[in-house]
Amino acid sequence: MSSSQEPNKKRILTGDRPTGKLHLGHYVGSLANRVKLQDDYETYILIADVQALTDNFQTPEMLRANIREVVLDYLAVGLDPKKCAFVIQSLVPEIAELTIFYMNLVTVARLERNPTVKDEMKQKGFGDNVNAGFLCYPISQAADITAFGAHLVPVGEDQRPMIEQTQEIVDRFNRLYGEDKETDSGILVRPEGMYAEFGRLPGTDGAAKMSKTVGNVISLSDDEATVTQKVMGMYTDPNRLTGREPGNVEGNPVFTYHDAFNPDKERVAELKELYRKGGENEKGKPLLGDVQVKRELAVALNAFLEPIRTRREEFARDENLVWDVVQDGTARGHQRAAEVMDAVRGAMKIDYLKS
Ligand code: TRP
Repeated sequence: MSSSQEPNKKRILTGDRPTGKLHLGHYVGSLANRVKLQDDYETYILIADVQALTDNFQTPEMLRANIREVVLDYLAVGLDPKKCAFVIQSLVPEIAELTIFYMNLVTVARLERNPTVKDEMKQKGFGDNVNAGFLCYPISQAADITAFGAHLVPVGEDQRPMIEQTQEIVDRFNRLYGEDKETDSGILVRPEGMYAEFGRLPGTDGAAKMSKTVGNVISLSDDEATVTQKVMGMYTDPNRLTGREPGNVEGNPVFTYHDAFNPDKERVAELKELYRKGGENEKGKPLLGDVQVKRELAVALNAFLEPIRTRREEFARDENLVWDVVQDGTARGHQRAAEVMDAVRGAMKIDYLKS
């Protein structure tokens, strides 16, 4: 038995689309939880290349380089390939098989109501011309999760509708194709979402979330100067024209980032108080300007990112490392998915040739 397959441990499945380097939103939403949980769970991390294709099918050649970037990010933040299986989605055909079977259990109207799909369709400008693959990706994501029999799915808030839709599919499947009488549970494991304590990290422009399409992200691998430049350009309280006005801390992304990444909580509390008060000193200068708040954020962020950058560079030096790790993880994942697929075929009574 490989080290990641331990019968007494519950399983985690989560994943990312390999469309580029991962950013701080990924860190807060999911990576931080994964690092914490990897010791206690059998962990599968899916590199969702098939899902990435649903809105990038014209440029499949970008996947190879992006898979490498994503895995380097995983290693850099401290995910350990001995504890986590990094699995390439398209190399686990059982996920595609399950997707086809699940498609019968979901209405088109339900897919069109999925809030995440709705948001993304708007953002990506699909209009009425959405392709079937994109519309159906929540079904394929349910297949991702259930193919590994995952109990827990650590994801960002934006993925909540995906987990809910997966639970619906699981319930429908288990009702239709039979509960497992012996264990008093369904054939498919019903997963629970695990959402980041911190909530959602806004974009540098103050939008609800970081998104590469929008261009409001700070990547985990951004260099020091880039981070500083992005922070200095961040959206703050637009009513604070001179820095003397009392400012808004709530909903101000600069302070949200301070809360997430600045370990000096006392200083953050002090900054908030001064910012809320506004006013000027005896020389007529603002007591606390936005530039100062941003400068301190850039320092905190760079301190947080520095060890991640250093580790990333070390891992990147070895050309083969990523592919070795991915080959091993995909083999482990495939083995697990094949077991689940066997049970599904049995439950659906389509295991014709099995004696
Ligand atoms: N949809 C997720 C995202 O955009 C990525 C993903 C694909 C995923 N399959 C998954 C997340 C399965 C959790 C579980 O970030």
